[in-house]
Amino acid sequence: MTDTDREQLLTAIRSAIAAAPNAQSAMTQAVRLLKDAIPYYNWVGIYVMDGNELVLGPFLGKPSPHTRIPVGSGICGAAAAEKATIVVDEVNADPRYLACSVETQSEIVVPIMRGPDVLGEIDIDSDQRAAFGQPDRTLLEPVAAMLAERMAED
Ligand code: SME
Repeated sequence: MTDTDREQLLTAIRSAIAAAPNAQSAMTQAVRLLKDAIPYYNWVGIYVMDGNELVLGPFLGKPSPHTRIPVGSGICGAAAAEKATIVVDEVNADPRYLACSVETQSEIVVPIMRGPDVLGEIDIDSDQRAAFGQPDRTLLEPVAAMLAERMAED
């Protein structure tokens, strides 16, 4: 995927999020657009913060056993605790990893932040090792910021 492709995808996601009737729909559409556009995004989901737990919202890919993840648990919980994007090149080499699918090799988790508060996260798994890099952060961090605006409305 070229930088131009990525910019066009971001534009499409921005439009869909703006046109969505509510935050739930905005999340569902962002997940769909990301999953459809990028072949190595094998599982795409959004977790929403509920108290001290992350609750699985819209997702595409195999069903995950991890529908509620406490902050501090797993890579998802670590990203919420650190309030920072985490990229893991080899999930099976990371002791924090909570397995969702045996095919998964690498993962990126991008917190959805409103000021100092974590509202949720974008979580993406790939069946390719070390699939995620700076281009994925450059795509996903603005998507997280757009979702934060819609989620804060509800
Ligand atoms: N791998 C995540 C759990 C979520 S599943 O990948 C969908 C983690 O370690 O927190």
